[in-house]
Amino acid sequence: MGFMFVLTVFLVGILGKSCDASADFEKRLLFDREDPEIRMNASELITSKGYPCENHDVYTPDGFLLGVQRIPHGVQRNRPVVLLQHGLLASSTCWLENLANESLAYILADAGYDVWLGNSRGNTYGRRHIRYQPSQREFWAWSWDEMAKYDLPATINYVLQVSRQSQLYYVGHSQGTEIGFAEFSRNPELGRKVKTFFCPGASDERGSHDQSTKTHLPSYQTFTNPHEPDRTQRVLAE
Ligand SMILES: *[C@@H]1O[C@H](CO)[C@@H](O)[C@H](O)[C@H]1NC(C)=O
Ligand SMILES: *[C@@H]1O[C@H](CO)[C@@H](O)[C@H](O)[C@H]1NC(C)=O
Repeated sequence: MGFMFVLTVFLVGILGKSCDASADFEKRLLFDREDPEIRMNASELITSKGYPCENHDVYTPDGFLLGVQRIPHGVQRNRPVVLLQHGLLASSTCWLENLANESLAYILADAGYDVWLGNSRGNTYGRRHIRYQPSQREFWAWSWDEMAKYDLPATINYVLQVSRQSQLYYVGHSQGTEIGFAEFSRNPELGRKVKTFFCPGASDERGSHDQSTKTHLPSYQTFTNPHEPDRTQRVLAE
């Protein structure tokens, strides 16, 4: 009986070790294959490709602190300004996740643009407020309407002030397009600060905006396919 117990403990020890070793081996294999970018935030994604990155804070009139990233230049300088604004449940990383030659932020930086990456309240880079914590209900008391009314003008005005320009190109993906249509149509002064409004992945604005609203909008280009950086780049290059 005593012998059986010792043998069992010995076998469990050996098997346990070999299981650990094979788990380690699997972990190593998985880790080796893991794309290091999945652990990077927006600024790390940008600097890992050799592009300069600046982190800025935009204060909204109702107290939010929005983290905005800037790629001030490509690998050239006095560049036109472009602001890229992400879609629903996304962030500035959505413009940075493909290879450098296939991600709009890098393509535009290389094409000579001063590239700014906006972030709306509540996302990874928009979770700070001067009074509230994200754990408080008050922090979340807003909708996309406030993103249009507060986040968009605060970001555009900040970008134009820092870059010392009077106008920029605006590329909104989906929700970024929606807040653009909403705010540029009711705020013509803001609309005049936009040279061209690019709308990849826009919901059909022809049905939802009447002609009187459209007359306030800056010139704009809609795209049915949200993933058309080539076309945005072509139009921006003209
Ligand atoms: C990304 O992480 C680095 C290192 O922790 C930090 O310095 C940087 O501010 C972060 N960037 C953003 C946009 O949060
Ligand atoms: C981007 O670069 C990669 C690697 O150099 C290449 O395989 C790919 O075809 C390029 N993509 C485009 C759209 O040129």
